[in-house]
Parts: sequence; C-alpha cells; structure tokens
Amino acid sequence: MSNNEIAVNPAASDDTDSANSTLDKASVLLHWLTGWTIIGLLALGIYMEENEAWHLYDLHKSLGALIFVIALIRVWRRIRQGWPEPVSQYSKLEQSLSKLVHYVLLIGSVLIPLSGIVMSVAGGNGLGVFGLELIAENPDPANPGQSAPLFGPLAGMAHGMHGMISNLVIAALVLHIVGALKHHLIDKDRTLSRMLGR
Ligand code: HEM
Ligand code: HEM
Repeated sequence: MSNNEIAVNPAASDDTDSANSTLDKASVLLHWLTGWTIIGLLALGIYMEENEAWHLYDLHKSLGALIFVIALIRVWRRIRQGWPEPVSQYSKLEQSLSKLVHYVLLIGSVLIPLSGIVMSVAGGNGLGVFGLELIAENPDPANPGQSAPLFGPLAGMAHGMHGMISNLVIAALVLHIVGALKHHLIDKDRTLSRMLGR
C-alpha cells in the first residue's frame, strides 16, 4: 500500500482482495450525494440551456453552489487521507485509467461549479442560494430590471469552461460507470458493493 492510499479496513490491508473490505460511511455518503447531484445538474444544465428554460436557472445555480462546498470537502478529504485502496490487483493500464478517471471526476466536481459561479458573477448576475443573496446583481442603469456584465470576457471564458469541463466529466462518467459494472459483473469483486456501503 502506498502512502497515498488509505487502508479501507485495517483487517483487510494485507489482503486487498478480502471480502471484508469496506469504505468509511463518510466516503460513501459524500460520493453518492455529490454523484447523483452532479448527474442531475449535468442533465438540468443541458436541458435548461437547450430549451431556454429560464425558470430552472435559479435551481441549477443554487444546487450547483451547494455542491461546490461539498466537492471542496471531498477534495480536502482525499488530500488528507489519499484514495481508497483497490479491492484487488488489476493490470497497470486499468489502474492508471481508473486513477485518471477519478482525478477528472473529483477535480471536475470543483471546476464546473467554480466556473459557473465566475460566469454568473462576472456576467453581473450575482450569486444566490435558494433566495439567499450571497453576491448582489449588477443592475444595468440603461435597462431597469436587467443586469449588466461586470467583466464580460471573463464571464465568456468561464461559460466556455463550464460547458467544456462538463463534457469532459460526462465522458469520464461513462468510463466510470462502465468500470463499476465491469468490476461487479465480470470481475465479481467488491468495488461497487463497498461503495454501496455493504
Ligand atoms: C451511477 C453513477 C456512479 C457509479 C455507479 C459510481 C461508482 C463508483 C464506484 C464503484 C467507486 C469505487 C471505485 C474504487 O473503489 O476504485 C467510485 C469511486 C469514485 N467515484 Fe463514482 N460512481 C458514480 C458516479 C460518480 C460521479 C457523478 C462522480 C463525480 C462527478 C463520481 C466520482 C467518484 C470518485 C472521485 C471516486 C473515487 C473514490 C472517492 O473519492 O470517493 N462518481 N464510484
Ligand atoms: C456541479 C455543478 C454543476 C454542473 C454539473 C453544471 C452543469 C451545467 C451544464 C452541463 C450546462 C449546459 C452547458 C452547455 O450545454 O454548454 C450548464 C449551464 C449553466 N450553468 Fe451549470 N453546472 C453546475 C453548477 C453551476 C453553478 C454553481 C452555476 C452558477 C452559480 C451554474 C450556472 C450555469 C448557467 C448560468 C448555465 C447556462 C448558461 C447559458 O444559458 O448560456 N452552473 N451547467
């Protein structure tokens, strides 16, 4: 076990194929809380942008801002504790691919909401969470009731990054889910089971 990896269960640390390997409850809870919310926000983001569903923007931004905080907690925990140890020995290629996918998902969970917040604030729309104003809008004196960009080029760049990183995360997510199913159905190991808290 490398210094960068946590023993999933002290009893299992010498035998990573042990059927008893488990993950701590916080890792499981944070994974599914961020996981399902991000999947929902990816779908909501694409839907609302394609259909110009303005009434959904506040919901998207509020949930996104909350998930930003939880994603930061996940990153902090991974820096402190390292990554869960694999439940079994896999080929070098498989290990590298899964590590890459985990990094993309974890860093993407921070960069997507961060770019969303920058897009919104630099675009003059401010930031609110379910009606609670955190950063005020920048009213446009020429168009009452409308907001004016604070820094248009930055808002535009953040907008581009928001969509680009979302697409990268979607691609990583497809590999992630295929990998989880492969472990469960083909390798028949505990990778998915322990992430389900079993
Ligand atoms: C239905 C969707 C999902 C399934 C079935 C799933 C399944 C899993 C499984 C089985 C693991 C354990 C892998 C291992 O032990 O090596 C895992 C880890 C991980 N998953 Fe997911 N996942 C899903 C969605 C997501 C989403 C949406 C994200 C983030 C955008 C995400 C981020 C991660 C990360 C960063 C890890 C590494 C361990 C950790 O930091 O907790 N997953 N996932
Ligand atoms: C993990 C959290 C988030 C995810 C996964 C996510 C995902 C997405 C996706 C996939 C789109 C559609 C992009 C496209 O089709 O080009 C989108 C649009 C958008 N997102 Fe997010 N987003 C998140 C958080 C946020 C936050 C925190 C904000 C702002 C506070 C935000 C503001 C927006 C806005 C304003 C749009 C629409 C842009 C337009 O109509 O041109 N998002 N989001």
